[in-house]
Amino acid sequence: MQTFGIFVIFVIGSTLAFPWPWKRQASENSVQADDAGSNWPSVSFSFDLKFSKLRKFYVHLTKSYVDVDIITTFFQLSDSEQQCILNAWDNMTNSNSYQTPNQTAAEVVNQLKAACPNSASAIQVLADKITAEKDRYAQQYMNFINTMPQSIKDADAKLWNALQTLNANDGYQNQTALKITLVPALESLQHIPQADLQTLANNAPFLAPILTGNSGSLSVLIQAAIDMINNGKVTNEAEVKQAMQDIWRYLKNELKQVLSDIDHHTEASLPANVDQALKQTIGNQIAKSFQQLAKIPFLTVNIDQNNDVYEISV
Ligand SMILES: *[C@@H]1O[C@H](CO)[C@@H](O)[C@H](O)[C@H]1NC(C)=O
Ligand SMILES: *[C@@H]1O[C@H](CO)[C@@H](O)[C@H](O)[C@H]1NC(C)=O
Ligand SMILES: *[C@@H]1O[C@H](CO)[C@@H](O)[C@H](O)[C@H]1NC(C)=O
Repeated sequence: MQTFGIFVIFVIGSTLAFPWPWKRQASENSVQADDAGSNWPSVSFSFDLKFSKLRKFYVHLTKSYVDVDIITTFFQLSDSEQQCILNAWDNMTNSNSYQTPNQTAAEVVNQLKAACPNSASAIQVLADKITAEKDRYAQQYMNFINTMPQSIKDADAKLWNALQTLNANDGYQNQTALKITLVPALESLQHIPQADLQTLANNAPFLAPILTGNSGSLSVLIQAAIDMINNGKVTNEAEVKQAMQDIWRYLKNELKQVLSDIDHHTEASLPANVDQALKQTIGNQIAKSFQQLAKIPFLTVNIDQNNDVYEISV
């Protein structure tokens, strides 16, 4: 169940996923000190960033993409109710039970209600809105897939079923399960005729570079996955490396595009008190992620809210 804290997750989970607000900065003093004392080549770096910029980014992201009703419903709860839900969510996502892949959305909602009984009805309203939002995206995807050639519909359904089966049985570590479940799904992807791939590329141009490029990087990687599952190794290592580099370059370009789209997206306008509460909560969650980083033994984390600088160094 990945959807309940959609805006909280944006903040907690992906603070580290967007490296671009970070400014890389040489820390020459420590390099010199290390060089003097040791022959060992040392690596040293530090990052600092403006807390206010990071917060601005996440507030913009949330106001651009999360349904206004969801934001408003949550932030119109009292402070203590908001805090209760955030704490309960943190507890659940940190506990082992959350890792159990068979935990259903309804179970998660019930656990949250049990932890915060005063907000039970608001939690249900939020859960219903989030489910509706999720269904809307799922429906858009299905509408798209339904216009595709039969070979693509079949491969999509096979892959989806295989992943569901593996999830339900915790099968990703089980070679037999991978062989009988995932390999046939991967093979059905490989067997999509070129003309059908071209149809897909025409309708989803962002996929074109990996679907129809001369290099065939995607099919090299699919074959590599099949080889790894069947034999534990690949025989064409150089080719696989090249394909991975191609795909990596593609993903980096896509990420740039995504970040640029986010930057230019129109924000929803919120009631002033909700807007203020959203900023506050996002700021708190970012500060919390930095506190988590401070627990990592080899990182030095310096939080200076007055001067708006958050610094990490090794
Ligand atoms: C979260 O977990 C802590 C310790 O396990 C517990 O004391 C606290 O009551 C829990 N909070 C919520 C909101 O469930
Ligand atoms: C989920 O799976 C675990 C281990 O596979 C099992 O112990 C637990 O009872 C299951 N929970 C539900 C609700 O099915
Ligand atoms: C691995 O998967 C196979 C096929 O699904 C199953 O029969 C077997 O019990 C699984 N082994 C383990 C250790 O879960």
